Amino acid sequence: MRIAIFNQKGGVGKTTTTLNLGAALRRSGNTPLMLDLDPQGHLSSIHGQAPLEANRSLFAFYQDLRSLHELELPWEHIGHLIPAHQQLIKVDSIFGKGPAILNKLRHGLEELETTNPRPTLIDCCPYIGVLALNAIFACDCLLIPISTDYLSLQAAEHITRTLQVLEPVLKRRVERRYLLTRFDRRRRMSDDVRNKLRDRYGDDVLDIVISENVSVAESPSLNCDVYRHNASSSGAHDHTSLLKELVERGDLNITLR
Ligand SMILES: Nc1ncnc2c1ncn2[C@@H]1O[C@H](COP(=O)(O)OP(=O)(O)O)[C@@H](O)[C@H]1O
Ligand SMILES: [Mg+2]
Repeated sequence: MRIAIFNQKGGVGKTTTTLNLGAALRRSGNTPLMLDLDPQGHLSSIHGQAPLEANRSLFAFYQDLRSLHELELPWEHIGHLIPAHQQLIKVDSIFGKGPAILNKLRHGLEELETTNPRPTLIDCCPYIGVLALNAIFACDCLLIPISTDYLSLQAAEHITRTLQVLEPVLKRRVERRYLLTRFDRRRRMSDDVRNKLRDRYGDDVLDIVISENVSVAESPSLNCDVYRHNASSSGAHDHTSLLKELVERGDLNITLR
């Protein structure tokens, strides 16, 4: 099962959600594959030992130099990572927008899964281009983090319109889940944004929210996930609840330990 974490707005918690959902998976007895599809490479820098050469990153996969399997790096306490490189920014201009390139990641992952099926999380870049389309085409479920503020509602609307354009091409509905992040229960705005999101997207809005939490914010600078930093934090608890809800809804077909 593949989940792409996408929002074309930056700073909404895509990388944070990918990282901590990956760690939650591992703690539940399911070892994930993590893909960093953002040329900024934030997830790769949190890993801490991702190589700097483009030919050991996802860029080499797009150049047809290496298979996904060859690019996997072990990630202690999580699973495996296929890292990004800033050269990924060139994928749009070099490879165009034909069906072959748009389906490249899907085909690569399908091949990888024939020998090693596992939950796969794809951390996306904050814009719609070949890379984000690759993630959307490859995923079974699109997880859309929405930071709890009014501008994020516009971003959610933008994604919904993009998906409406893509679905006739894909000939299927893109399953999606909206996840409120950086939720602050003390602010009235938080409940207001949540209610507006529910009015618009109904059941596609996840029940659980990720609260604003200092341990979540600190852990990337320590090159670790929130569980390693502070397993008893509300941030750790929230990501465990997120995993549970995704499993209960059937978005991840796994058994939790
Ligand atoms: N629940 C949270 N509580 C506190 N800080 C958070 C939370 N989620 C994200 N952040 C912080 O917000 C910033 C943006 O998050 P990030 O995951 O990098 O967003 P994106 O990948 O969408 O650009 C980071 O500094 C991150 O540590
Ligand atoms: Mg990011």
